[in-house]
Amino acid sequence: MADQQYNPGRLLYGGDYNPEQWPREVWAEDIELMRSARINTVSIGIFSWAMLEPREGEYEAGWLDEIIDQLHDAGIGFFLATPTASPPPWFTRVHPDALPVRSDGTQLSHGSRDTYAISAPAYRAASRSIARFLAERYGHHPGLRGWHVHNEYGTIDYGPHAAVAFRRWLRAKYGTLDDLNTAWTTAFWSQRYSDWEDVLPPRATQYLHNPAQAVDFKRFNSDEMLAAFSEQKAEIEASGSHAPVTTNFMLPTWNHLEQWSWSAAQDAVSIDHYLDTDGPDGETHVAYGADLTRSWAHGPWLLMEQNATGIRMGDRTILKEPDRMIRNSLGYIARGSQSSLFFQWRASAGGSEFWHGALVPHAGGSSRAFDAVIELGGILEAISEVAEPPVDGRLIESDVAIVWDAEGWWSTETPHLPNDALSYSEEVRATHRAFWRSGVSVDFVRAGDDVSRYRLVIVPSMFAMSEDAAAWASAYVTSGGQLVVQFFSGVADLNQSVITGGYPGRLRELLGVRVEEIRPLHDGETVELSGALQGELWSERVHSEGAVPVAEYSAGTLAGMPAVTRNTVGAGTATYLSTRLTQQSRDAFYAALCDELGIAEVLPGASALGVEAVRRRGARGDYLFLLHHGTAPVTVSGAGDELISGTTIGPETDAFSLPPGSVAVIRESSREWTLEEEQVLHQT
Ligand code: GLA
Repeated sequence: MADQQYNPGRLLYGGDYNPEQWPREVWAEDIELMRSARINTVSIGIFSWAMLEPREGEYEAGWLDEIIDQLHDAGIGFFLATPTASPPPWFTRVHPDALPVRSDGTQLSHGSRDTYAISAPAYRAASRSIARFLAERYGHHPGLRGWHVHNEYGTIDYGPHAAVAFRRWLRAKYGTLDDLNTAWTTAFWSQRYSDWEDVLPPRATQYLHNPAQAVDFKRFNSDEMLAAFSEQKAEIEASGSHAPVTTNFMLPTWNHLEQWSWSAAQDAVSIDHYLDTDGPDGETHVAYGADLTRSWAHGPWLLMEQNATGIRMGDRTILKEPDRMIRNSLGYIARGSQSSLFFQWRASAGGSEFWHGALVPHAGGSSRAFDAVIELGGILEAISEVAEPPVDGRLIESDVAIVWDAEGWWSTETPHLPNDALSYSEEVRATHRAFWRSGVSVDFVRAGDDVSRYRLVIVPSMFAMSEDAAAWASAYVTSGGQLVVQFFSGVADLNQSVITGGYPGRLRELLGVRVEEIRPLHDGETVELSGALQGELWSERVHSEGAVPVAEYSAGTLAGMPAVTRNTVGAGTATYLSTRLTQQSRDAFYAALCDELGIAEVLPGASALGVEAVRRRGARGDYLFLLHHGTAPVTVSGAGDELISGTTIGPETDAFSLPPGSVAVIRESSREWTLEEEQVLHQT
């Protein structure tokens, strides 16, 4: 376990640095520019395998020694990556069997990156070797902040090595083929297996895959990649290096990893996060990624990459304006990030991503973009005390928790569910967005967590659900919790097998309903409910078995039948939404529920002004982050020390003016540290 801190009480600022692309004169200029912007951290070596090991077993790290020492002399720390995301061209020649095979049988070749078969013994051995080499050489370097193992695990292989490893995983899970056959419902379509050798990854086949096989393959891949990560971590630890080890998750589209178990296996949790729009929804996207990661980490986390100026998306680059780059950076930090790191430091002149944005654009340091980088450096220094977390580690007080479940995502991706337009991640995000819009803080949890401190817990479309998860939901309600279950949850067991007799089988008793049939809607079709609510995508024929209707379907064949129900169980209630509320209705529904439960906005009135308010708890007090995403100046109220401008707000007047696009960080309450806090902080 790491005992060295990646972050001794200050925010990390910098990003991926790929100096092997540049001549030495540029290195010198890089370091000058980094100093001018107060950059204190770079991630290095991420794609350097071919430079570090130009021929199998022959290492050449002089160039890395040189740049690391130069960085260190300039006071810049580094995360050192193991370069295993991109095996060099010689690797293909020497180990052709270690290349990945797509589901259609195409074997990939080198020429890009991420071209590896995760289960190939040669790939795993080569990865361990290079990790060991780097750990032994740099594991005690004073500038080392941490280990960045691999980069965005996620290449899925369907080839022969994957088949062998998948079978091994399945044998450990099921023991016998009979049990596998039962779990996968192979009695249908003549899929019954009589020999383990016949069991394959879900390769291209004539028509639909077996859904249980597809989800098991997802589970297997997450576990297999975690094993590969853990092997490298073990090499690092065996070298005696005490620096924390992380690997960067990719959000929000990547669903190859079960993030809760992966987070527990790391010393620090980190993500790469790229806006998927240049429209206003980008801000909710930042909050979504940050809230998820803080929750997985159960505390502080690291933003390992974001884009500074522009990212290629679809058929063009979408731009990020300087003020947005700064607001987004503070948005991640407000929600628990200890860093603002970017891909990449200097825009490449050539190579595969040469039109990707960077801290230093092609124009160089004399640019509007780099002016913003300098400005952000000043801001991060001014607010650096926020990086000292409270002793209990809880950075944000939330009354609301949304269940996040990788299995839920995987199971709703199997084909031929009632409506293929259902997207688990969109469903979760739409619910998170509703709370963001009303300025209410949200955590994510997984079934089984202690949720007693939350006043509201929401289960979004968790189609496959274990008995334990259902019992957990029930215990929360019985002891006084308010649970909302969104449509298509608890319908099947973890083998993707429907619990028959009425949906949602696992949760029928808790919700006090019996759903007789699912009635998917057409694209663009909506269904009106009483209470001015509107549904889309989905509707259900719901019968109450004890629950009270809260809203009914207003028209069509379901007219007069319950659409939203509430069941009182023990000291709490379980509410069921049998349709997908449109975003507007979802916003209204959850805003009303928050009012009813007395769940308040972080800064009352702020969201209506276009100001995102987030309160981050710290060792010295609470910090109110105000991010003004609107286009007109606004006045808000607050009291405390505004750290960026160095001004004090209140007590005479607490009115505070925010220009459009601006940010403010107010230390609301300074307090004496407790003895315990002093001790913890001094240890770091
Ligand atoms: C990922 C990778 C980076 C880079 C960026 C581009 O996050 O980790 O190497 O390719 O995407 O957006």
